[in-house]
Amino acid sequence: MSYDIVLVGAGCMGTALLPGLFKGFDKSRILVIDVLPSRRKEVAAMGVDVASSLGDVDDAAIIVLALPSNRFSEFAGCTSVLNGHPGLVVSVMAGVRIATIEKTLQACNVVRAIPNTSAETFKSMTVFCAGASVSSYSLRLAERMFSLVGEMVRVEEEKLMDPATAICGGGPAYLSYFAECMRSFAVEHGFSDAQSDFIVSQIFQGVGSLLSVGDRQPMQMCEDVMTPGGTTAQAIEVLKHRNFKEVVGDALLKAATHSQLLGSMAEEAENERSHR
Ligand SMILES: NC(=O)c1ccc[n+]([C@@H]2O[C@H](COP(=O)([O-])OP(=O)(O)OC[C@H]3O[C@@H](n4cnc5c(N)ncnc54)[C@H](OP(=O)(O)O)[C@@H]3O)[C@@H](O)[C@H]2O)c1
Repeated sequence: MSYDIVLVGAGCMGTALLPGLFKGFDKSRILVIDVLPSRRKEVAAMGVDVASSLGDVDDAAIIVLALPSNRFSEFAGCTSVLNGHPGLVVSVMAGVRIATIEKTLQACNVVRAIPNTSAETFKSMTVFCAGASVSSYSLRLAERMFSLVGEMVRVEEEKLMDPATAICGGGPAYLSYFAECMRSFAVEHGFSDAQSDFIVSQIFQGVGSLLSVGDRQPMQMCEDVMTPGGTTAQAIEVLKHRNFKEVVGDALLKAATHSQLLGSMAEEAENERSHR
């Protein structure tokens, strides 16, 4: 059986890509590889073929690498099937650099991307960078794939992929964390769980829709709510006093730095593997 897409790694990110992929590709043309039997079972229930390891792969197949960054070298070491793969290889692995993937797989059509889990509802923001040798056909294919899961921004400089990983990959987690803080406050103050969930989710959707109009910067939107002498100004004062912006900046920097570290570790692992 030949496939148009082979997705390696059916974790949170890999499975979030699937609903979008189903819009653009026939389910029978998608193969999902995962080492965990329970994940394979979940994904098989969605109607796609699953396997624990790679068999033959068509030259034209799109390979999507969605396994943990620190497992990439081990994965590459266990299979030679992808060596010299001429088709598109899309990596969504945090940190792992294009040169490392090109060298490991001897592949020339490598695109490094950072989508996020909002892909599940076709609302991903995917930042991507194409390797220097990517053909225009493969680039179009990658863009088509990203458009199936949401919006995209292409960067020319790969170094931007580390801050992109911090902002974009982790973005849903930070906002969900903030949502949880608001939800807990609502529950503590007497709202039911269901009411709290509904209130917070509507606030996030509302702000998302205002931001997407794009006629105001986020800070302007914040100030619009801050009636002088009003309640919101009191809350924002607390956040400013506690240096909330600095805390968020520190958190993002830590994530971006870790992305760089993962990239270096993957490079070292590949160097060790190729010298064995
Ligand atoms: N989560 C996000 O929001 C997000 C966003 C952007 C990018 N990413 C990137 O996407 C990748 C996956 O992240 P995730 O959060 O989806 O991780 P995850 O939930 O841990 O899923 C990864 C899956 O890949 C499996 N796996 C490990 N080694 C494998 C191999 N050799 N062959 C096939 N499958 C293998 C894992 O099995 P085991 O559990 O047995 O290891 C697991 O089921 C990471 O590189 C991450 O940096 C994630």
